[in-house]
Amino acid sequence: MNNKYWYKDMVFYQIWPRSFKDGNGDGMGDLYGVYEKLDYIQSLGCDGIWFSPLYPSPGVDCGYDISDYLDIAEEFGGMEAFEKVLDGAHKRGMKVIMDLVVNHTSTEHEWFKKSRQRIEPYTDYYIWRPAKPNGKLPNNWDSLFEGKAWQWDDVRKEYYMHLFAIEQADLNMDNPLVREEVKKVLKFWLDKGVDGFREDVITFISKKEGLPDDYIMPASKGFNYFNHGPHLHEYLEEFKRDVFSKYDCMTLAEAPMVTPKKALQYIDESNEPVLDMMIQFASQEADCFFSDYSHLPFSLRKLKRAYTLWQTGLEGKAWNMLYIENHDHPRIVSRYGSDAYRAESAKMLAVSYLFLKGTPFVYQGQEIGMTNWYPKDPSLYEDVQTIWQYEHVATNKSDEKRLQRLWFGSRDSARTPVQWSDEKHAGFTTAEPWFHVNENYKEVNVARQEKEEDSVLNFYRKAIQLRKQLSCVRDGIYQEYNKYSSKLFTYSMTDDKQRILVVCSFSDKNENWKVPSGFDLSQAELILNNYKDTDTTQLKPYETRVYLMK
Ligand code: NOJ
Repeated sequence: MNNKYWYKDMVFYQIWPRSFKDGNGDGMGDLYGVYEKLDYIQSLGCDGIWFSPLYPSPGVDCGYDISDYLDIAEEFGGMEAFEKVLDGAHKRGMKVIMDLVVNHTSTEHEWFKKSRQRIEPYTDYYIWRPAKPNGKLPNNWDSLFEGKAWQWDDVRKEYYMHLFAIEQADLNMDNPLVREEVKKVLKFWLDKGVDGFREDVITFISKKEGLPDDYIMPASKGFNYFNHGPHLHEYLEEFKRDVFSKYDCMTLAEAPMVTPKKALQYIDESNEPVLDMMIQFASQEADCFFSDYSHLPFSLRKLKRAYTLWQTGLEGKAWNMLYIENHDHPRIVSRYGSDAYRAESAKMLAVSYLFLKGTPFVYQGQEIGMTNWYPKDPSLYEDVQTIWQYEHVATNKSDEKRLQRLWFGSRDSARTPVQWSDEKHAGFTTAEPWFHVNENYKEVNVARQEKEEDSVLNFYRKAIQLRKQLSCVRDGIYQEYNKYSSKLFTYSMTDDKQRILVVCSFSDKNENWKVPSGFDLSQAELILNNYKDTDTTQLKPYETRVYLMK
């Protein structure tokens, strides 16, 4: 049976390899560790895995700086270990998608080394520009990670563009040879049997002709000139036509600042889509503006607007990708929930998105309600973006304020090793771990939650199982209630056979609740909840319920 929409029935698990599980005792997560945990991932009800980059890399941006697209890093076990994992996953009926990072390569990539020496055919593989006559940079664009988007290269005597770290040079996708290279990479992995790709900042691959100065954006200058650039659709169409259309695979595009209207230009199923799904950022912006570092108080109304916009915006036309966590944002319990009500809020947050229409992704550790990490010493952070932020932004603030910016803004908050048990280093490794383990591992860990029937872990299992059983989640129509409430998120999903009512309290206090009109709870079955006693007029802190109407 060949169902081209297989991903619509699935739940994916995201593995950020360095911190998932160390299987060979060197302190770094690897594919041996993943192999050991395949049954665990399957036991969650997840039937797909997205791997953050596994390729050889100097590790400046934890693997998103690739030095060889056609191999697996030795530190993760090399190709042999990957093939074993791929096979193990497929034997269990699970799909595997890779991260495709082709906006940039590492400056350690052979292409870059040759390009900086003007060795053909690599001379124009990257975006090189001479300095302006007045000695100024080629334009005023900002890097999203460190300073300006240009770095002088002493070998070539020109600047190259880097929208991310200095060691991540942007590829010149306008060069047809570069696009051929990308297609070779895609074919290589698809022929190996992978089931698709999550495409890293793919909306940045086409830059506006002439690379003009940006006089509009106050910060992140250039953003509107490299996001959704002039040839983006054309290049994606080419990848689809020449490669993806020949395989049974799925594509998921990371798309900062995308709106549903824009997304439909790429994923409208009735209009020759060039991608299958897009990763929107709106649901990650309910406590910040654009970047996690511009922290604001959490606004449930902002979050609900994002969900409603995407649920209604794609309805009947395209498919949503659903997530509340990944490796680029601090832990969701510490952001939209509460560390004080950790278990309650982790369960409520699970329900808040797992019953929406789309394909959900669960990020490693999310399923046990891992929280942020609050180090006292800023030098413990590893992430390139975090270090730059600490050294260059808000430097006039007090030490305490500067540290707090990192706690609530840094990607490292979600990159501490997965807490497997209460043993040393949380059972992640027997050696010295490459990165700090969150101090709360004795209380928050998989082994303990396996034993507790009402743990966050078992709640996730139940919620995922239920979502898969309910046709109205996959095929139904979303409707929101209590739209103006800043504490409650209430929605229903309805198809021609079924209707569910989902209630989520984002409050740390008791809240009065009025059952939305049209729902008679005496005719409903409570199929999921995070408190034993339920009161139809009041919700407890971070209470959540799912009712199946009869
Ligand atoms: C988005 C990825 O998710 C992030 O981790 C990475 O640093 C940037 N793209 C650059 O590749």
